[in-house]
Amino acid sequence: MSAVLEGLVALITGGASGIGAATAKRFVREGARVVIFDVQAGPGNALAEELGQDVYFVAGDHARADDNARAVAATIESFGSLDILYNNAATVHQGPIAEVDETELRRQIDACMIGPYLMTQAALPALRLGSGANRAILFTGSVQSIIVRPGYTLYSMVKHGIAGLVGSLALELAKEGIRVNGLCPGPVDTPLFRAGVSRIAESPEAGIALRLAGVPLGRMIAADEIAAAAVFLASRAAANITGVMLPVDGGICA
Ligand SMILES: NC(=O)c1ccc[n+]([C@@H]2O[C@H](COP(=O)([O-])OP(=O)(O)OC[C@H]3O[C@@H](n4cnc5c(N)ncnc54)[C@H](O)[C@@H]3O)[C@@H](O)[C@H]2O)c1
Repeated sequence: MSAVLEGLVALITGGASGIGAATAKRFVREGARVVIFDVQAGPGNALAEELGQDVYFVAGDHARADDNARAVAATIESFGSLDILYNNAATVHQGPIAEVDETELRRQIDACMIGPYLMTQAALPALRLGSGANRAILFTGSVQSIIVRPGYTLYSMVKHGIAGLVGSLALELAKEGIRVNGLCPGPVDTPLFRAGVSRIAESPEAGIALRLAGVPLGRMIAADEIAAAAVFLASRAAANITGVMLPVDGGICA
């Protein structure tokens, strides 16, 4: 079977760690050339080096329009086009509303909403110039784009915002043949997951046990399982799928 992303060029935010890194690896295995964009230069450069000549790393913060413009320009310069934008980067916040100060509120909205919005604006002109064969924008939402949990007002707010963005943007870009979809992961053991449970569990293991209690299939989700769904949504196999928020969550949202 031929690689399903053969000939396509992808830009992945938050690609230096966790779900983004697993997706960069899978995309390359499926024939794509990939630009990894992340604030973490060390791990980002190391991953790009590990994956070889089909991967390029750009350091930057997606909440900064100039960083995003630089990433898109580097993508075109390195690989000649942009077919898939994966807005994956985010940070997490856990804690009651009374404890969220204005700085944290704005920081979380910047990292989880302004960033994907600005990156999409930066990438659209390049996506519009694409070959037309298969252009897609993906977002990482969360099960908290669909359900909510107490103590996660800020995270639930921004992840529900991503669901609104996916639906509305899918309709806006449908006439141009650019598809827009989101992934809604259940618990994946990454630095972000550990930060999210650190205030409500005594240890990462206790945090995992806490989360698993609500997962019908009864196990953590592997980052590579989110990546597999991302490959599908980005590929020609999903050519008639747009505006969907797909749970990859062991049944949490059922
Ligand atoms: N891990 C989970 O259980 C889980 C569950 C649901 C949703 N998610 C979502 O999955 C996505 C990826 O998270 P992960 O779990 O792989 O976490 P992670 O911490 O492993 O990776 C997130 C990456 O995003 C980067 N990043 C953060 N802010 C950035 C910014 N402003 N600009 C550029 N890069 C930035 C980080 O440096 C990091 O490399 C996030 O959108 C997260 O909300 C994760």
